[in-house]
Amino acid sequence: MKRIFLLFLGLGNLAYGQNPLFIPSTLSGNTINLSLQNGSVNFYPGNATQTMGVNGNLLGPTILLDRYQTVTMNVTNNLTDTTTIHWHGMHVAPQNDGGPHTVIPPGTTWSPSFPVLDWATTNWYHPHLHMKTNEHVQKGIAGMIIVRDDIEAALDLPRTYGVDDIPLVIQTKAFDASNQIITLETALDTSLMINGTIDPISNLPAQVVRLRLLNGSSERVYNIGFSSNQTFYQIGSDGGLLTAPVALTRLRIAPGERMEILVDFTGMQGQNTALMSYGSELPSAIYGASQPGMGAGQTIPNYTLNPLNGANFQLLGISIGAQTSNPITTIPSSLVAHSPWLQANASTTRTLTFSPQTMGPTAIQGPFLINMMPFDMMMINQYIPFENTEIWTLTNNTPIAHPFHIHDVQFYVLDINGVAPPANQQGRKDVILVPAGGGVVRFITKFEDFYNDTIPYMYHCHMLTHEDGGMMGQFIVNSPIVGLNESQTSMESFVYPNPVIDFLTIDTPIGSRLVLYDNTGRFIWGETTDKMNQKIDFSGLKTGVYFLNQVENEQTRVIKIFKN
Ligand code: C2O
Ligand code: CU
Repeated sequence: MKRIFLLFLGLGNLAYGQNPLFIPSTLSGNTINLSLQNGSVNFYPGNATQTMGVNGNLLGPTILLDRYQTVTMNVTNNLTDTTTIHWHGMHVAPQNDGGPHTVIPPGTTWSPSFPVLDWATTNWYHPHLHMKTNEHVQKGIAGMIIVRDDIEAALDLPRTYGVDDIPLVIQTKAFDASNQIITLETALDTSLMINGTIDPISNLPAQVVRLRLLNGSSERVYNIGFSSNQTFYQIGSDGGLLTAPVALTRLRIAPGERMEILVDFTGMQGQNTALMSYGSELPSAIYGASQPGMGAGQTIPNYTLNPLNGANFQLLGISIGAQTSNPITTIPSSLVAHSPWLQANASTTRTLTFSPQTMGPTAIQGPFLINMMPFDMMMINQYIPFENTEIWTLTNNTPIAHPFHIHDVQFYVLDINGVAPPANQQGRKDVILVPAGGGVVRFITKFEDFYNDTIPYMYHCHMLTHEDGGMMGQFIVNSPIVGLNESQTSMESFVYPNPVIDFLTIDTPIGSRLVLYDNTGRFIWGETTDKMNQKIDFSGLKTGVYFLNQVENEQTRVIKIFKN
């Protein structure tokens, strides 16, 4: 019944959406309180659907952050199941990252505190418990994080949340006959929803509108476009704004990816349009195309029964209304400057190869391995020197494309199958779809600011069924000085304020030695203290990360200082 329902409303652009698009509420400030809880939602007539949500029944509030603020996230687990919460896309220390090792048992609160170091970005948060990520995300735990910064604020861009700056969390889910969410890998994800709204419609003003697209689906890739074939402009990728807007009529978005687009509805008041996914145009060997594998016989059970596969369907009905006051009516010609790391400066090349656990016609069904290994909580797959610049080569020897995601860093794509990426993939990214059948993606990144000799970061396929099935690995960024007694937290109460603007005060015993390095290890300042309240003048220093070494009784500890 649900399949037929979607078939009628989803195909073509004759029918416009029926339910007003839900816009998640926002949370901002230095303390963000998130309660993970069970809930229920009436998606379909009949039984209510048992769900999970954050501060509500389904999904979570959008978290608004400013670059360089500090934030404490109080995550209280009111579920009956253990879980974790990961800040996908954010550059935070391993102990604050919310990976599978940082569990939040039921009835407890996890309170990481960290400075926001990201550029203006669209990020998101979701559970990351090994083998339960898909279930917890599918049942409804996910939310958007919008980071703002001064550079973005100075551009003429729409930024009134919910008015001309619209969050769109795109997901498909599978339901059983009694309206309950099923998370088996073979379940048919026939129900499409945006921000938890099935068959949504939105009233948007007749001006330039910014859409923040997040593919929060477990497996499905979308091929975004407008029903009128109207040109739109991608302005941001996973890690922030691009150099300049890129004019497009189609945009492919894989699980985990975020993309910000501008669309100009100026002069279109009173008209209707629709945001679509043109699945019929997706090439083979991508989940969502008519053929999910490389050739005949390589398919997923029941795949062809799903009306969304290989089809063009509506994501969001749009009715264009009146302009707001002070509308944005032009597309900016340029955005932000980028200076990607140079290949000549990379000191390490790492190779990750994806393969099916079992070769043959069922190779498309997984489980999938990275370097022949399934994920093992006890096994560290890569050790990375602090501040290393590296080139990673991803080779996909499976018959389906996988969206590869890495924690901690943003990367720049060097090439895809030997060819430089298109303009809209030349910004910072943390997810990249690696083509099937021997496809190769190379990227460059640098592992800076954070290290921890015991808590790893993750890399994995962002198709959540693949991730849960073991297509994941973990890496440690090693501390820079061997034998150093590294402080595990970047926020030490005897050093304040941190982040600092002008004077940093250090409450330290007289006679301890203080040495300040910048993030390249360059000596900045050093002194043996002669008073209890030592002050360091940061006013002339560049914005960024510094390391203060405090040597006391032959013990060194390193405190990370953030200069605003
Ligand atoms: Cu979006 Cu490791 O996750
Ligand atoms: Cu995968």
